[in-house]
Amino acid sequence: MSVITPEKQELPKGAFRMTYEQQLAAVPKVFRAYWKKLAEKNGYYNKTFILEWADGLEDALVLDAGCGQDSTLSRRGKPLRRIVGLDPLREDMQVNRTLRHKTQGVLEELPFADETFAAIHCDSVFEHITDPARVVGQFYRVLKPGGRVLINTNSVFNPFMYPNKFLSVRQREWIKKKMRMASEGTYPAPYRINTRRRLVRYLSKAGFRDVRIYRWGVPNLYRPRWFLVLQLLMELLAETPLFCGLKHRLMATCRK
Ligand SMILES: C[S@@+](CC[C@H](N)C(=O)[O-])C[C@H]1O[C@@H](n2cnc3c(N)ncnc32)[C@H](O)[C@@H]1O
Repeated sequence: MSVITPEKQELPKGAFRMTYEQQLAAVPKVFRAYWKKLAEKNGYYNKTFILEWADGLEDALVLDAGCGQDSTLSRRGKPLRRIVGLDPLREDMQVNRTLRHKTQGVLEELPFADETFAAIHCDSVFEHITDPARVVGQFYRVLKPGGRVLINTNSVFNPFMYPNKFLSVRQREWIKKKMRMASEGTYPAPYRINTRRRLVRYLSKAGFRDVRIYRWGVPNLYRPRWFLVLQLLMELLAETPLFCGLKHRLMATCRK
């Protein structure tokens, strides 16, 4: 596994836009070595893993499903020249300057012909969908045979994600403001497919093969300090097989 050094790591989204050094300084000394290890793992999944997944797609038609305001795929260094962004929110897509080709639509009803794309990238959208069977069915339909999928989403068992299932968008916005968290939009989050088991089940049932699940994510709340310590302790637990569901992020890859 090729690992990028933490110094070169891009900041995870929502990390208060702190530099790596600022983040590290916020971590109590006793946890620093451990935090560096976590950040390195996070950097690997947040960047290197996705670049490797995108190998060979430079000139292929790639769908960024739920591209929103800022397409992580196009930011990731590898020049993929033919990404098509899709999102229901026209205003969000207008803000998105990283994509040239954008279409308004929803994942439940993709406005594309069968077998159009060589790959589908879907970052931070699966927590918002209400009909996962329909969405993965649509992914299967618009993919070419042999096409690949990468889905990045939240794990519902992460204690910071779980309450989102029950809180309204307004309540979540209020919490984000109180905690001085960066908000790039808040959307309903019913978490219908956000466990390892459900991802595997829905994707396999739709016909996908080579379904693989990865767990990653690192604490991105740095204040107050006692809260950060609590998070780091939870991450220790989340590194064990029994409690790995506590990890913040779930990533799935598969092929048609
Ligand atoms: C948290 S943003 C993620 C945006 C982008 N993928 C990223 O990683 O920065 C979630 C996006 O999912 C979109 N979304 C929510 N439900 C959707 C659906 N059913 N079909 C397509 N997009 C949806 C929202 O409009 C929003 O832009």
